Amino acid sequence: MILIEKSNARRSRGKKYVLRNVQYSKIRFRGAYIDVLWNTIYKTARIEAIYVPPKLRGKGLGRALVEIVEDMLKYMGVKTVVTSTVTEDVTGFWEKLGYKKVYELHGLSVYMKTLIQ
Ligand SMILES: CC(C)(COP(=O)(O)OP(=O)(O)OC[C@H]1O[C@@H](n2cnc3c(N)ncnc32)[C@H](O)[C@@H]1OP(=O)(O)O)[C@@H](O)C(=O)NCCC(=O)NCCS
Repeated sequence: MILIEKSNARRSRGKKYVLRNVQYSKIRFRGAYIDVLWNTIYKTARIEAIYVPPKLRGKGLGRALVEIVEDMLKYMGVKTVVTSTVTEDVTGFWEKLGYKKVYELHGLSVYMKTLIQ
C-alpha cells in the first residue's frame, strides 16, 4: 500500500500537496485508461482506476492495460501492487489477473498482487 505521510509531502506554490517519492502515470488508449501511483522508496504501487468503454470490453484490453502497468512497475523495482473497488462484479477480472482479495468491508474490496518476491 502506498503510504502517504505528512512528512512525505511538501506544499507546492498553490495549496496542493506534492508527494515526494511518489510517481504517477496514466495510460490511455481509445477511451480506455489506467491510472497508477507508485512509491519509489517503499516499492509499492496502487492502481487508482481502470476503465474500458463498454463497446471495447471483453476483448482483452483491460488485461493488456494492467499487464503494461505491471511490466513498467517491475522494471521500476516495485514489489507489490494493490487496487480497490466498490464494484463487486469486477472481482473476477482482478482474480483472473492474479490478484487476491485481501480486505473487504462495507462493499469495499482491496486486491493485492506480488510482482517481485
Ligand atoms: C473491469 C474492466 C476494466 C474489464 O475490462 P475488459 O477489457 O472487459 O477486460 P478483459 O477483456 O481484458 O478481461 C480479462 C479477463 O477478465 C475477465 N473479466 C472481465 N471483466 C470481468 C467481470 N466483470 N467479471 C468477471 N470476469 C471478468 C474476462 O473474462 C477475461 O478473462 P480471460 O482472460 O480468461 O478471457 C471493464 O469492464 C470496465 O472498465 N468496467 C467499468 C469500470 C470498472 O468497473 N473498473 C474497475 C474498478 S476497480
